[in-house]
Amino acid sequence: MAKDVIVACDFDSKSKTLDFLDLFTERKPFVKIGMELFYAEGPQIVREIKARGHKIFLDLKLHDIPNTVRKAMAVLSSLDVDMVNVHAAGTKNMMKAALEGLTRADGTRPLLIAVTQLTSTDETSMRDDLMIDAPMEQVVAHYAKNALESGLDGVVCSPLEAAKVHVSCGENFITVTPGIRFEGAAIGDQKRVTTPRKARMLGSDYIVVGRPITAAEDPVAAYNRCVKEFLGE
Ligand code: C5P
Repeated sequence: MAKDVIVACDFDSKSKTLDFLDLFTERKPFVKIGMELFYAEGPQIVREIKARGHKIFLDLKLHDIPNTVRKAMAVLSSLDVDMVNVHAAGTKNMMKAALEGLTRADGTRPLLIAVTQLTSTDETSMRDDLMIDAPMEQVVAHYAKNALESGLDGVVCSPLEAAKVHVSCGENFITVTPGIRFEGAAIGDQKRVTTPRKARMLGSDYIVVGRPITAAEDPVAAYNRCVKEFLGE
């Protein structure tokens, strides 16, 4: 199983993003592009970052009717991204359609992962707003199983849930885990955090790291520290 550190490029413009990526002259990080940057700059930003030699996780969290998601995924696949995602709440039919859309004529495709429940949703809002009565842990496990049965490659989850997901969905089912902070650092708005080293011990396959790298005084040093702790390099 490939393991890596994914840097969340949560910037609002191309120039800020490219200035940031220019800092990395040796190892080119796997980068995550989210809605803010994609909607601000369009698909060209993906092509440009890809042409600079980075792998890309396009974090757009698609959730629509299966036909629409299938067609949208075909477009994203043609951008040659390495990883994309959907909301598992869109149902198994939608996840299967996403997979079909992503698969290129030659049979290759980017990795497809599912968001189970957003970390901003807690049991109270799930029950009161979404009318889902089950405990969070059970909902996450069920959605992960749905993703597996739909042929997806993995889920986004907390590092603290990674081991459980591997037990129920298999060691090869990928866990992509945000909520990473260095020992003793400010946690900001994240609630359940772990260090890169702890994430490795818990079995995360990819850690997603934003502010601990993007807001660091020396982003390259912070990235290298993540790589060293998480990959043991
Ligand atoms: O700055 P920080 O390390 O908290 O950034 C984490 C990144 O992972 C952000 O881009 C955030 O949107 C994303 N993310 C998350 N929790 C999730 C899913 C995605 O923090 N459940």
